Amino acid sequence: MNIIRAKDYEDMSRKAANILAARIILKPDCVLGLATGSTPLGVYARLIDKYNRGDLDFSRVSTVNLDEYRGLPEDNAQSYHYFMRYNLFRHINIRPDHTFVPDGMEPDGALACQAHEDTIRKLGGIDLQLLGLGNNGHIGFNEPGPVFEKETHPVDLAESTIRANARFFERIEQVPTQAYTMGIGTIMRARQILLIVNGSGKADIVARAFWGPVTPQVPASILQMHPDVTLVADEEALAEAPL
Ligand code: GLP
Repeated sequence: MNIIRAKDYEDMSRKAANILAARIILKPDCVLGLATGSTPLGVYARLIDKYNRGDLDFSRVSTVNLDEYRGLPEDNAQSYHYFMRYNLFRHINIRPDHTFVPDGMEPDGALACQAHEDTIRKLGGIDLQLLGLGNNGHIGFNEPGPVFEKETHPVDLAESTIRANARFFERIEQVPTQAYTMGIGTIMRARQILLIVNGSGKADIVARAFWGPVTPQVPASILQMHPDVTLVADEEALAEAPL
């Protein structure tokens, strides 16, 4: 694992955006796996900046997202479709038909998840997967559990995830309780992984995920087995790592 220590959130965002930018420059038709949550916002802002300066061209890039809430329409401001459009896609020259987020409005979970797997396979797999880290060690919406779920699948969100994500909704009752997420196998098949994390609130889970035992109780711990993982973390998030 390649660990890049960043000073703070700004520095983490700049370093991670540079890694993504390098990938796009070296492979203009690359397939990027993208994440939502508050952590990647700074990365996306910097990618937009690079695009505006003429340093990046997204015209041949494809993107696949990790996850989507079940039952939120695309025009709901809390849906991940909306998040991606608002925070990245509408600001760059990516083709809308090159962007893929699981279809949260498909009530048949098996169908929606199989379609997402098929999309990834047809694209030739993910070149670089960007990941955030949930407070409980989840990646995408792969929650702690007895086994690593392999493929894209429907999930019941953990109570702690619903509470953590309630900050984006007016009331906690509005937070969907289910989602469709890439599985651990889907994520592990990405050729390169870039995990970003910041803040003291994640220090404990960073130490457990990357220096603790590999266990489905800490889903991100599986990344220790991936041959090409880069962790970009700020000082606060690395405070409990045995470095
Ligand atoms: C969400 C997303 C994850 C994200 C995580 C952390 O529930 N499904 O992809 O990495 O929680 O979010 P944040 O970056 O806001 O801490």
